[in-house]
Amino acid sequence: MTETAGRRRRGISARGLRVTTLDRVEHILNPSGPPLTPRTAVVWSVLRAELDRRPAGELTVLDVGGGTGGFAVPLARAGHRVTVVDASPDALAALSRRAAEAGVAGRVRALQGDGDALAGLVEPASVDLALCHAVLEVVDDPSPVASALAGALRPGGAASVLVAGRAAAVLGRAMNGHLDLAAALATDPAGSTGPRDTLRRRFDAEGAAALLTAAGLTVEEIHGVRVLAGLLPAAVADGQPAALVELERTLAARPPWRDIAAQLHLFARRPA
Ligand SMILES: C[S@@+](CC[C@H](N)C(=O)[O-])C[C@H]1O[C@@H](n2cnc3c(N)ncnc32)[C@H](O)[C@@H]1O
Repeated sequence: MTETAGRRRRGISARGLRVTTLDRVEHILNPSGPPLTPRTAVVWSVLRAELDRRPAGELTVLDVGGGTGGFAVPLARAGHRVTVVDASPDALAALSRRAAEAGVAGRVRALQGDGDALAGLVEPASVDLALCHAVLEVVDDPSPVASALAGALRPGGAASVLVAGRAAAVLGRAMNGHLDLAAALATDPAGSTGPRDTLRRRFDAEGAAALLTAAGLTVEEIHGVRVLAGLLPAAVADGQPAALVELERTLAARPPWRDIAAQLHLFARRPA
């Protein structure tokens, strides 16, 4: 038996790490995509569950503010047809290059446009799965974007929405000694420190769920993304990446840990 085969049998990877359930899940979930990290693992688990419950075949996917295609390209590689609507021509150019390099240019459509004007870009009620990740905190007004997202979904279609969490930002500022900014973030109605803040708003789970509910969606699941990753010393996060991803997955659905995550992931559905 070769050394590699022997290691595999004993559950030891080439880097000397034990091959955990997580490693196998990573391979099953995203064999040709980027490695799962605390930033992506929980979201991919939720998306994978949705893809698995659908009958085999190509889904119509919309990624609003999809940027350079971190989710769009792996979804296209998995056989789905993805439209990315983004305000930035530079992001869309990078997306097109990435899709071409991955051999899925024919399944990825890049459209420049605004998230609150989807009706002119995407046929209403035509989308099986709509992503809107890290967008609602930067747009002028999140309500029309949430409504446009809901309007694009076919009845029974699902939305994957990722938003910035307020509690993590408060903790982060406080731990860095910026107590004034922490107080401002905690008390500002939008969860922003003002015009110099990079984000216009931050959310707690209830507020984000209320936004999607008002848009006509039924929220089915809420997870925290990066509960601990931003709080740990780099030596811990970098030194035990697989264990950290596993711990993130363990904590993601469980308040109070869920609620201090850097981002909140909401999985919602347009009623059938
Ligand atoms: C922080 S990036 C997130 C990119 C990607 N969704 C991700 O999670 O990696 C925000 C993206 O939203 C896009 N964006 C900002 N405002 C937008 C709007 N009103 N309509 C559509 N896209 C918008 C930006 O161009 C950018 O690509």
